[in-house]
Amino acid sequence: MAKNQQYCIPSHVAIIMDGNGRWAQKRAMPRFVGHRQGLAALKRIVRYASERGIETLTVYAFSTENWQRPQEEVNYLVNLIHETFSKEIGELHREGVRIVLVGDRSTLSSDILRVWDRAERITAENQGMTLNIAFNYGGRTEIVNAVKNIVTKALAGSISIDDINAELISEELYTSHSPDPDLLIRTGGEQRLSNFLLWQSAYTEIYVTTTLWPDFDEKDFDKALDSYSQRERRFGKVPAKELTK
Ligand code: FPP
Repeated sequence: MAKNQQYCIPSHVAIIMDGNGRWAQKRAMPRFVGHRQGLAALKRIVRYASERGIETLTVYAFSTENWQRPQEEVNYLVNLIHETFSKEIGELHREGVRIVLVGDRSTLSSDILRVWDRAERITAENQGMTLNIAFNYGGRTEIVNAVKNIVTKALAGSISIDDINAELISEELYTSHSPDPDLLIRTGGEQRLSNFLLWQSAYTEIYVTTTLWPDFDEKDFDKALDSYSQRERRFGKVPAKELTK
């Protein structure tokens, strides 16, 4: 980094935690072992991100498409996520982490929703890092729901067509309580968004690493932050220094 360049910490980091299955396959182990190690990596990174002063961390835990995986894997993942909440909620709460489910609640069973409601209720007033967990999440469904809500309001006369703008759409997304992500990290090497935060990522800096998620550690997180700090974010404009020429 140039001497006088300020080190810039992103306020909101989003992560696509990919590569659990490959991590297990490389070791001739069943995929669920990869998910269990993936959870250990997530715990590490939640703690570290909070220490580094990240205000919001959004992680892709389970997509609307993941229900199509073999039933055994789906059951394992859903149980893993819920057991974790039952066990870890106390510690996350002590660390001041606020947990928010970002995803489609309308298709979740009441048993599953109860776990999320409890986690959200207990941590609602916490002032530390916000941990958004994308569960039963799909970016297109999120946008479709937002459009439906807006049209319902327009038909009811509580808003007019002219009130519809980008801010209003953002307010109808599952992530309405959070700013857009500054940095999106994808592990496992694939270079795509996979239906994650489609609207919110319009100007997000993307960092892809071939490291598989279970191996992702504090050093890897720092590398992503270093890379972010060297980016020049222009939001479609020309660099400020060009304007003074
Ligand atoms: C993608 O790897 C990973 C997932 C579908 C699940 C991620 C979930 C966790 C890390 C556990 C989360 C736990 C909590 C409490 C939120 P993949 O299976 O697609 O890997 P592959 O691309 O190598 O097959």
